[in-house]
Amino acid sequence: MAHNGAFSRRYAPGVASAAAEEEAPEGPTTMKCVDDFRLRFGRTELVPIMIGGMGVDISTAELALEAARLGGVGHISDAMVPTVSDRRFKTRFVKDKLKLYKYNVANADKSEVRFDLGHLAEAQKLHVGKTMEAKRGPGMVFINCMEKLTMNAPKETLRVRLAAALDAGIDGITLSAGLHLGSFGLIEDHPRFRDAQLGIIVSSLRALQLFLRKSARTNRLPDFVVVEGPLAGGHLGFGLDWAEYDLATIVNEIHAYLRNEKLEIPVIPAGGIFTGSEATAFLEAGSAAVQVATRFTVAKECGLPEPVQQEYFKANEDDIEVNTISPTGYPMRMLRNSPAIGDGIRPNCEAFGYLLDGSGNCAYIAAYNREVAAHPGAKKVKVMDKTCLCTHMRNFECWTCGHLTYKLKDTTRQRPDGSYEILSAEHIFRDYQFSKDGSIALPA
Ligand SMILES: Cc1cc2nc3c(=O)[nH]c(=O)nc-3n(C[C@H](O)[C@H](O)[C@H](O)COP(=O)(O)O)c2cc1C
Repeated sequence: MAHNGAFSRRYAPGVASAAAEEEAPEGPTTMKCVDDFRLRFGRTELVPIMIGGMGVDISTAELALEAARLGGVGHISDAMVPTVSDRRFKTRFVKDKLKLYKYNVANADKSEVRFDLGHLAEAQKLHVGKTMEAKRGPGMVFINCMEKLTMNAPKETLRVRLAAALDAGIDGITLSAGLHLGSFGLIEDHPRFRDAQLGIIVSSLRALQLFLRKSARTNRLPDFVVVEGPLAGGHLGFGLDWAEYDLATIVNEIHAYLRNEKLEIPVIPAGGIFTGSEATAFLEAGSAAVQVATRFTVAKECGLPEPVQQEYFKANEDDIEVNTISPTGYPMRMLRNSPAIGDGIRPNCEAFGYLLDGSGNCAYIAAYNREVAAHPGAKKVKVMDKTCLCTHMRNFECWTCGHLTYKLKDTTRQRPDGSYEILSAEHIFRDYQFSKDGSIALPA
C-alpha cells in the first residue's frame, strides 16, 4: 500500500530509543516505527538501517555516504575493486594485468594468472580512502567482502583486501559469501582488529556456530551478525529449496541460541524487508537493526545504469528466478532477461579472474570450453549452465535482485512515457525510518 506525502515526522539522528519510548504515549495510535530504535556499537548510536553491500559497485560510495549522512550504516563493496578503481580514479590496474597475461588468453589453464597484491592493496585503499574522506554525518560506512572472490590465491588476496580496508579507515567490515572460518585470523595482528566493527553474514544458525567456533582462538566476537534469509538479492546461502526457509524463523533460532550462550551480538535480519513496518517488527522482536538493499537498487545514487533500473521496476514476480549460473556454486537470484544468461563469451580471466580458485579454475571456463568443443567452427557459442560473472557484473549485465523487486513499481510514480521515476536514497531511507501501517511514501 502506498501513501503520498512529505515526511512530517521527527527526524533526529542520535536520539536514544529509550528517550523516544518515554515520550511516546501509550495506546494503539502510537504504533512504533524504525526511528524509535537505535543500533548501538559501543557508545555510538545509529539509526538501525543498514544498506547492504551490492557488488560490483551497485552499492556505490555515494549510496553508502547517504546512509551515513542520515545516521545509518552504508556499505561499499570490494568486489572487483581494481576495476572499480580504474573506473573511478583513472588507474590502470586491469589494463596492466591484461597486458602481463595476454599471452595466456587462449589457454584453458589459468593457473599463472595472478593478482599483483601491491596493486590490489592500492586499489582497495583508493576505494575506501576516498569514500571515508567524503563521509559526513553521524553514521558509518562498512565494506562488504565476499570470500568467494577467491582471486586465484584465496587467503593472500583476502588478507590484503581486509587489511587495506582497515588501513584506509573503513568503519567496519561485513564478511559475506562464504563461511569465513579463517578470516578473523587473517587480520588478527592488524592494529585496528579490535576497534573496527567486524561482522559476518550467515543464513543459518549452524553457519554462525561454525564461525564462532573457528574464530574463538582470536578472542574476539563479531560486533554484529547479519542473518540473511532466502528472499535476498545476490548469492544465496540456500539451495534451490530456498522457498522452504523463512527469515523470521532463522532469526528467532539465532536469538534463542545467543541468549542461551549469553552472547550479546547484535542480530541484523536481511532479505525481503520491504517496508518500515516490517523492519519495526524485527526490531520489536529483539533485532538490533535491519539490512536492506532491493529498495535502494532504484535510487539515483545506486550504481545500476538507469535503463537497468527501469528493468527492475518493470519486473513481475515470474520474471525473477533463482538459478545456478554463478560459477561460485551458490544459487543466485536475478531477472530472467539478464543479458548474462546464456551469453557464451570467451573467459576474461587475464583481465579479471576474480572467481579463479587457487588452482586457476572457474566453472565457467570448463562450461565454455565444453560448448566450444561441441560446436567446432561456430563464431559464437551459447553457455546456458554457467556465466562469466566477472565480465557480466562489471558491465551491469547480470541483473541480480531481491525476490521483492517486483514490488518496486509500487514505490514510485510512473512517468507519462511509462517509465518510472528514480528515487533519492534519502527518500527511501526516511521511508524505512518513519513509515508505519505497512505504508510506503511515494516521491513528492
Ligand atoms: C543488486 C544486489 C546485489 C547484491 N550484491 C551483494 C554482494 O555483492 N554481496 C553480498 O554480501 N550481498 C549482496 N546482496 C545482498 C544484500 O546486501 C542484502 O543483504 C539483501 O539483498 C537484503 O535483502 P533485500 O534486497 O530484500 O532488502 C545484493 C543484493 C542486491 C539486491
